[in-house]
Amino acid sequence: MAAGVDVTLDGVRISRALAARNIGWRVYHHPTLASTMDEAHRLARAGASELTAVVADEQTAGRGRLNRRWWSPAGSNLLLSLILRPPLRPCRAHRLTMACSLAVCDAVKRVSGLEARVKWPNDVLIGERKVCGILSELEIDGERLEYAIVGIGLNVNADLHDAPPFLAPATSLLMEAGRAFSRLEVLLTLLEEVGRRYQALRDGHQLHHEWARRMATLGERVRVTEGERVLSGVAVDVDEDGALLLRDDAGVLRRVLVGDVTLHGRTLGGN
Ligand code: BTN
Repeated sequence: MAAGVDVTLDGVRISRALAARNIGWRVYHHPTLASTMDEAHRLARAGASELTAVVADEQTAGRGRLNRRWWSPAGSNLLLSLILRPPLRPCRAHRLTMACSLAVCDAVKRVSGLEARVKWPNDVLIGERKVCGILSELEIDGERLEYAIVGIGLNVNADLHDAPPFLAPATSLLMEAGRAFSRLEVLLTLLEEVGRRYQALRDGHQLHHEWARRMATLGERVRVTEGERVLSGVAVDVDEDGALLLRDDAGVLRRVLVGDVTLHGRTLGGN
């Protein structure tokens, strides 16, 4: 308990709460895993249905985008990977990250009242600090997306003032709100919101206008590293597939693709 709030998670309580609130996710909870991504891939390859989530209290080899590490003190934050099987072509898969980052913003607002914003392409910020990172990994067969694993690391109760220096300026709900949160409540709210956004995506709704409205970087000068290329200019908009539209210094509008989706351990492009 932290200041009267039960911050623990366990499989039985999660399953009971999912049933009580009629939330249509199956959740596997583990005290420790190397990475929830690996376990979710294993389950997906074994045929697990979509809307399956793998949650861990601690990861010994948590990973972020671009081969970075993901660090999180044991038992303090939410570390989860979601199995999704969307009817999308692989080139449209960034729509999933869009749906999930919007869901994170909605869940943060619901549980804490805090306003979170998206930092293109995959981060969620409160103010200028990162509260959540999202990592999408795809299993592709030719032109077919077999499944996607969306990993979400949401900083809930960690005090990150003493975080390792390799972390970008980071924050947590606790640091922003000055109180601890029930991780069970945050998890359930997040799963509800992802489920809602995912259903909208499956129903063919466009998410990019709302995504653009929640974007922290639009209208600002940015530097984007795309593979070997570094582009700088003003971030003008995003398109329906999550590409950033950047007006460069010569006034030319450039479309910067989200290229950091990893496929079989390879990073395709980068940002
Ligand atoms: C990033 O910002 O680079 C993305 C970070 C994603 C971290 C989450 S934590 C749960 C899941 N398991 C992992 O190993 N990574 C993702």
